[in-house]
Amino acid sequence: MPDTLKVTINAVSQLKGGYVDYTIVLRSDQDAVATLTVNRPDKMNAANRDVLDELNAHLSDIEADDSVEVVIITGEGDKAFVAGADINELARREPLDGLEAYMQRTYTRLAGLSKPTIAAVNGYALGGGCELSLACDIRVASDNAVFGLPETGLGIIPAAGGTQRLVELLGRGPALDMIITGRRLSAEEAHRWGLVTYLTDAEALIPTAAKVAERIRRKGITAVALARQIVAHTAKGDTDSGMFIERLAQAVLYATAEKQEGVEAFLDKRHPDFASVKGQHRFTSANN
Ligand code: COA
Repeated sequence: MPDTLKVTINAVSQLKGGYVDYTIVLRSDQDAVATLTVNRPDKMNAANRDVLDELNAHLSDIEADDSVEVVIITGEGDKAFVAGADINELARREPLDGLEAYMQRTYTRLAGLSKPTIAAVNGYALGGGCELSLACDIRVASDNAVFGLPETGLGIIPAAGGTQRLVELLGRGPALDMIITGRRLSAEEAHRWGLVTYLTDAEALIPTAAKVAERIRRKGITAVALARQIVAHTAKGDTDSGMFIERLAQAVLYATAEKQEGVEAFLDKRHPDFASVKGQHRFTSANN
């Protein structure tokens, strides 16, 4: 199948030993980039159980699929990315559901995916929608995006990683402002605060996310994977350990064919061809 051919994947996939027909989170692949689209526009793409089930199933598929190098997540339509957890389901939640924390566990899986992830935020990213974007590596937003954590207004807290990942990203003051006041940020404010790092108009949203994906794909795949893991680990651990892990990872990278190709390409004044050394490792002395 040609790389550039856009394929909508509606195939059945295994889920907990059974099968799921994707209807509510759709996947399309192009140039090694899988785009997942939450498809409940009449409900502002609110994340109900079905959305989370299908997202989980896609994550399993994508993790096992060597043809996918980067993942983009977006919402259907021009109004919402994801307007949070489905409040109809929330109304029935009991304390044990809070402990089960299906949304938090799903987003933690997403954050731990072995492939880089980009949220393309095309409207309301509220509550669990904002947290979904926070679980991605990079956020690209259209100028009509709105970010917010309205949970405290519903008598709950953002418990799908919101109290952790937002603090990591913005720091304690701005994060608490959003969490305890329910303050909503416009796309422009979110950009200024560093919550999103690319701001575009609506038509340019997916092309911009695709360009960011392409930029990542041109890098050394092992270096990108290790960088992501170190950043994730350091966010949870102490800086000294982070520095040590960084040194260890660099030592590993110094012995890879990717590093050799990257350095040689620069010295030869050409673009590196990382694809030509994909999967090759040379754990031998640099002088060999
Ligand atoms: N859960 C369930 N349904 C939701 C929803 C959610 N989180 N967000 C929106 N919807 C539904 C609405 O109930 C409505 O359904 P209906 O047409 O059957 O009545 C539909 O989506 C359209 O939403 P509506 O509120 O009419 O659109 P709007 O443009 O006036 O407002 C929002 C959009 C996103 C600002 C508003 O829907 C909202 O505040 N949603 C809840 C956000 C939230 O608190 N999320 C955190 C949950 S923990």
